[in-house]
Amino acid sequence: MAAVSATLIALTKANDHILCSQGLYGCTFGLLELMREKYNIQSDYSLMESEDILRKQIKDNTSLIYVETPINPTMKIIDLEMVARVAEEFNIPVVVDNTFSSPYLQRPIDLGCDIVLHSATKYIGGHGDVVAGLLVGKEDFISEVAMTTQKDIGGILSPFDAWLLLRGLKTLPIRMDRHSQNAERVVEQLKQHPKIKSVHYPFDQNNPDYEVAKKQMKLGAGVIAFEIEGGKKEAQAFLNRLSFIKLAVSLGDAESIIQHPATMTHAVVPEESRLNMGITDSLIRMSCGLEAWEDIWNDLNQALDQM
Ligand SMILES: Cc1ncc(COP(=O)(O)O)c(C=O)c1O
Repeated sequence: MAAVSATLIALTKANDHILCSQGLYGCTFGLLELMREKYNIQSDYSLMESEDILRKQIKDNTSLIYVETPINPTMKIIDLEMVARVAEEFNIPVVVDNTFSSPYLQRPIDLGCDIVLHSATKYIGGHGDVVAGLLVGKEDFISEVAMTTQKDIGGILSPFDAWLLLRGLKTLPIRMDRHSQNAERVVEQLKQHPKIKSVHYPFDQNNPDYEVAKKQMKLGAGVIAFEIEGGKKEAQAFLNRLSFIKLAVSLGDAESIIQHPATMTHAVVPEESRLNMGITDSLIRMSCGLEAWEDIWNDLNQALDQM
């Protein structure tokens, strides 16, 4: 979040406007709300479905476009090449939070975007033992952030944490292949279970965003979102019946972890905005780890069968 806040503060001034993807990590949403209250920086949310829609949503005071794709936690996809093309017409920078893909699976700068953010706590670290963030972009912008907002906000990495990230990077491609393979297999099983209402995964062929996902991602990565039959009570009971998969926020660890966005990562988002983002009470987000996929599925299956 230090990388997110340093970037947003560097690129905006009071009374500006930010156009965001329809769905953001809860704390990014919280930060934008704080900027709205304190500095009258307004933000709008959009699925950015077409160039025309996007052009209509950009205002005279829009100072940046901020996109997560896949979106946390609904796994919807935004077409980065298209967004970059339109933003260029207006001379507005596009910032992409690339946390859910990792630099191995998606390269927004090659697609025309300007600035890329990662919560390195996730896939880059890869072992759930470091909290860190990265910012990638043109040298003049990165130097400006380093000399101003990064320094002033104080989001500075300790040497040991930086070393953990460098170590994590060495195995990033192998881990991402395995996370993605496991997720694809679990998605196929989930789709057949009668207690599952819907499954959202970028590389699922039934996903309406499949073609865009294929165009801009190498693989679908490890996170799956799914809705189970019932509401909050059923979702929480289901989660409490799991034993192999850990109930925890975060993602991208070696271990599989699972959480309930409505009451955990996105609890700060008011109900109406949460539902607009597609975060229902029955939505579950799971990060497939590096274990044998059968172990992950067996745990989900036993908990679903008890419903
Ligand atoms: C998409 C996304 N961006 C940013 C963050 C913030 O990351 P950190 O916890 O490393 O500050 C998260 C955390 O879950 C996230 O999911």
